[in-house]
Amino acid sequence: MCGIVGCIYKKEPVLDFLIEGLERLEYRGYDSSGVAVIEKGALFTSKQEGKLNQLKKALKGENCSSFIGIGHTRWATHGRPSQANSHPHTDIDNEIAIVHNGIIENFQELKSELIEQGVQFSSETDSEVLAHLIHNQSQAGKIPLEEAVRLSLKKAKGAYAIAVISSRDPEKLVGARLGSPLIVGIGKNGNYLASDVPAILKQTNKVIYPNDGEIILLTADSYKVFDLDKKSVKHKVHTIEWTLDQVTKNGYDKFMLKEIHEQPKVIEAILKQRNPKGEQISFEELNIDEAVLKGIERISIVSCGTAYHAGFFIKYFLENNTDLPVDIDVASEFRYRKPKLNSKILVLTISQSGETADTLASLRLAKSKGCQILSIVNVMGSTIDRESDGVIYTHAGPEIGVASTKAYTAQMTCGLLFALYLAQLRKEMDSKSIKAMLKEAHKLPEMIQTVLKQEKHIAEIASQHAYAESALYLGRGFNFPSALEGALKNKEISYMHAEGHAAGEMKHGPIALIDHKLPVFCICPDGDSYEKMVSNVKEVEARKGLIISILTEGDKNLESISKETIFIPKIKEDLTPLLVAIPLQLLAFYIAETKGCDIDQPRNLAKSVTVE
Ligand code: M6R
Repeated sequence: MCGIVGCIYKKEPVLDFLIEGLERLEYRGYDSSGVAVIEKGALFTSKQEGKLNQLKKALKGENCSSFIGIGHTRWATHGRPSQANSHPHTDIDNEIAIVHNGIIENFQELKSELIEQGVQFSSETDSEVLAHLIHNQSQAGKIPLEEAVRLSLKKAKGAYAIAVISSRDPEKLVGARLGSPLIVGIGKNGNYLASDVPAILKQTNKVIYPNDGEIILLTADSYKVFDLDKKSVKHKVHTIEWTLDQVTKNGYDKFMLKEIHEQPKVIEAILKQRNPKGEQISFEELNIDEAVLKGIERISIVSCGTAYHAGFFIKYFLENNTDLPVDIDVASEFRYRKPKLNSKILVLTISQSGETADTLASLRLAKSKGCQILSIVNVMGSTIDRESDGVIYTHAGPEIGVASTKAYTAQMTCGLLFALYLAQLRKEMDSKSIKAMLKEAHKLPEMIQTVLKQEKHIAEIASQHAYAESALYLGRGFNFPSALEGALKNKEISYMHAEGHAAGEMKHGPIALIDHKLPVFCICPDGDSYEKMVSNVKEVEARKGLIISILTEGDKNLESISKETIFIPKIKEDLTPLLVAIPLQLLAFYIAETKGCDIDQPRNLAKSVTVE
């Protein structure tokens, strides 16, 4: 989704920051970009369709000394990607420039009113109305910029994060948010607005997180936050612990590959923090009373995409290790399917970004029905973090590749620890079995390293199947979610048609796809599902499918009928999805790389899906 940056410096030129900040937001997905600065008292705007390089080319040779500016990467919603539809948008007198992330739902109505007043529009976007509205409200500079913004936003319905500058008020940068993410950076040399922390991390690690319906007024050395009724709001200044290394590729070619390789450390950190001695599990930030957790009668998990697959694994793990019934929904269905909710249901939302629109709406729905909300979140200070009753942070560090990898295994690790914590609290599992499971879990980081050592072998397998038209992923039990995730990872970055299925469902349709050209990734680690998986793999063999098996080390049985094999170390079946995830991610990565795809920013996708 769109990325916003804004900056007001004391004495440095701002353009370099704007471009670098936008580069750090590229991961969000975009199709055009632009900047606006106030140069010698007048607004200067430059915008281009396509990648940031186009904008950089257009700006080459511009001798820009402005201290204040805003920038934007656009992910088209209203109006196709084009220069005219790119942000910043300006008013008819070219005094106000605005960048916007979100959707102004009543823009048609506002646009008609403005057209009647003689305003000419130069784009098809909903966002442009804001530039004209603010211009009207500012009455040629008689009304301060922040007040003109406030009065305009009172008329707007929908979702927005905005940054605004005016050549009539050149010492002010104004931002506002409602339903779309916006953070404020407080720096020594100036102050910043951005959609996400990586954009400003080089300049400052001090941030505030404005709430919905708040307006931010920044000068080079001050900040003020107030609400739509002009009431001033105080905010805690947070210190971000992420380092600059974490938001750069750090020697890797692609963020996705870097993040795949970070998984052993991420999982080790989670286990050490929550279960340092292999005995008790603790969650300091849980913030939900033990009595409440003892009293819950059901858990309902809600999330999207890869976070949904992590949730699916957590459902299996909870059902295997506690007595609780567990539902799971994709958030876009949950929020509309009229779920029967009450205070005895714990709703567990899972989100890397903490900003996913459907997950957030589901959270709000569940809250309104009296459910306790626990969330597994990566981005601290995100809206889901702030609106949940309790949170488990994955502490995976920034995930920048659009394809979620380390967040997925981090979510699963947090989920399994939470399940064991509940089992311990509710006395639904004996302490010896809990300890045994934890002992196994602590082996995961090293075992993942072992799997990562097969990277070259996995890359070779991937290159052989990279140009297949379709691929099938089959798994059972704990690894049914792995099959779904393997297929999603492949299709989203390599654009290969890929389907994940519960292996037992094959006979009910997908088996018709199998022929001698179809790669079938069969997830068959040791465990209760193994024998049944063997039968399914044999069915694939009988139809001449190209079998690529993920097996436990030492499995000779399936090796003979597989075209290729990838081995994972032996671990309790409940934990196998955390090992299986690694070859599935690497397969997707190397299939996409062989095809020359834009892995970190796949077409049409956005990292943080802040619109419905
Ligand atoms: O930020 P979230 O975890 O809420 O995001 C959910 C999905 O949008 C996300 O997992 C998406 O499916 C990824 N592109 C998958 O790799």
